[in-house]
Amino acid sequence: MGTKRHFRVWRGDDTGGSLEDFQVEVNEGEVVLDVIHRLQATQTPDLAVRWNCKAGKCGSCSMEINGKPRLGCMTRMSTFNETETVTVTPLRTFPVIRDLVTNVNFNYQKARELPAFAPPAGVAPGEYRMQQVDVERSQEFRKCIECFLCQNVCHVIRDHEENKHAFSGPRFFIRAAELDMHPLDARDDRKELAQAEQGLGYCNITKCCTEVCPEHIKITDNAIIPMKERVVDRRYDPVTWLGRKIFRRDQLDEQPVSASPKPAAAAADSGSNWHQEGPVPQEAPVGADGKLVVAELTLDRAAAGSPFGDDQVFPLPPEQLRYQHPSPPTGDGH
Ligand code: SF4
Ligand code: SF4
Ligand code: FES
Repeated sequence: MGTKRHFRVWRGDDTGGSLEDFQVEVNEGEVVLDVIHRLQATQTPDLAVRWNCKAGKCGSCSMEINGKPRLGCMTRMSTFNETETVTVTPLRTFPVIRDLVTNVNFNYQKARELPAFAPPAGVAPGEYRMQQVDVERSQEFRKCIECFLCQNVCHVIRDHEENKHAFSGPRFFIRAAELDMHPLDARDDRKELAQAEQGLGYCNITKCCTEVCPEHIKITDNAIIPMKERVVDRRYDPVTWLGRKIFRRDQLDEQPVSASPKPAAAAADSGSNWHQEGPVPQEAPVGADGKLVVAELTLDRAAAGSPFGDDQVFPLPPEQLRYQHPSPPTGDGH
């Protein structure tokens, strides 16, 4: 039998709501989501909460627990004092739908605005090659479970609805960084795009996003800061500055930073050198059925080399077997 603990849970919808108090049973080893489920089962059958995996992998159960953005399924009750009140509220940065469920559509909108991976022109499917070191470099960012805790905690949009149109947020900075360091991505303007269209400049590297990431992705150190540095290199490097003084803009090797080509007039109005056409993102090499063509999946040999040698035929003749049967036990126990 567990102990009774004091929970305060926000109940309401987009028209308003308030914190409600509950005394609820907590057992050893439970997480906050377990207790929310017990509340649903015993006291508040209509309490809305989003969850799926209960294993910290789907990113659905994001909520604020005692004011900190966390995954409900990964927050152990043992992290709180026995007498501590546990307050559970919905993510603050996104509009509430009901109770603990928020509308995170903002994030999908920002994902849609980010130009997709652009495969290199002239490289046929099946010929893509990457060094292992390049695979590993971006592997960290691919651990993202899209819980949007980093988006929720970021002060640029947390209390500033007006910034949302201009700021994509840390989750999409890591996506931009991942594509920027991808050796096969044909766009070379990812960082300029992040600066001009994703609002990278709004970020003042407070590292709050890194602190709340349940996948321990070093969002600020490994994605945001390197991209900021490279933007600065390109815009403020003294050699580049001198080049700007000497050459006309149209002679500079500067790529446009628009996700979609801007009309020439609009680009001219903006006062930036965004009027050049950039590489157009290409579609993934899929067949008419929308799937990768089989050639992409087949290797140039049937399988990895056999440890027995490629000329070996199975089953092996018994005299070639190196396996030795253990000696049968003798009658005296040895
Ligand atoms: S480091 Fe930048 S993106 Fe991350 S929370 Fe701070 S301001 Fe937002
Ligand atoms: S970067 Fe981390 S905190 Fe942000 S959405 Fe991905 S997993 Fe969640
Ligand atoms: S339920 Fe999937 S991350 Fe919590």
